[in-house]
Amino acid sequence: MDTNTTTLPSAQVGLPYDCEPTLNDQQVFNFCRQGYLMLEGVVDDDVNRRMLAFVEEHTEHQPLELLTEDWFVEGVFKNPQAAGAVRSLLGADFKLPQTLCNHRADCPLPPQHWHRDGGSIYSRRLDYLQVFYYPQDTPRALGPTELIPGSHFMRSKANYMGHIRSVKLVKSTAAPAGTIFITAYPIWHRKGRSTASGIRHLFKYNYWRTAEPRRDWIIEPEYDFSWPDMANEPHFEQFKCGIAAAEMFSWLCGESYEHVGGTGWPCEAPVKSELCDQEGLPSGLRRYAN
Ligand SMILES: [Fe+2]
Repeated sequence: MDTNTTTLPSAQVGLPYDCEPTLNDQQVFNFCRQGYLMLEGVVDDDVNRRMLAFVEEHTEHQPLELLTEDWFVEGVFKNPQAAGAVRSLLGADFKLPQTLCNHRADCPLPPQHWHRDGGSIYSRRLDYLQVFYYPQDTPRALGPTELIPGSHFMRSKANYMGHIRSVKLVKSTAAPAGTIFITAYPIWHRKGRSTASGIRHLFKYNYWRTAEPRRDWIIEPEYDFSWPDMANEPHFEQFKCGIAAAEMFSWLCGESYEHVGGTGWPCEAPVKSELCDQEGLPSGLRRYAN
């Protein structure tokens, strides 16, 4: 008997898991550009009800007992739609979360400052995902998380971000019970202003990549990657976030990519040409030989 090993509390904590990918080319590319994906009401009502009963008895920030509950692991961590999206973005045999926390908000509360979570880095790699789960209906009055789409590539110091008051492109994650949303870790976000009274619960946990990146989600052979519409993407410098998203998508596909500059892929042109692929598009994503 190996006396140096310790028995884990659950056979599933932090272990590799695999399932069928559920996202297609366009959805994976959109995730790279937006930095988040909403999956509304995907968790069964039974699991949501059980969660709300659980948090009545467990008010701690990290109720790790859930990691050993099969109904929770199966219903939330392995939720078919959420796990299928994670499988699409992180590849086969991704690791299930090793821990979790519950952001309990005793509403009403003012909004948080805009921030990226601690430990954020800027990278074209996508080696992990930060995922959130609402067990209850979470309308705007309960202060759902707000996100800035595309901001996971925007460089900024935390003390500068904290002074930002008004953001034009903000998206609320207000959603029904059972909603899971998946994020690129460095995305700018905050808890929104809440006006109602009561406790809002928001579970947060991370999945981890184990596989080398390759394009093994749902392939759309006819999908045209050239000249994507980036009109509403946030930026401090035009196209910067779109270029970074193209780098991330290429990395996920296992394609080599170097931005050629100017109007090379993915920088937009007023009119998309159907006659050729955009200059700079990686070879594996092209539809034409030219
Ligand atoms: Fe945060």
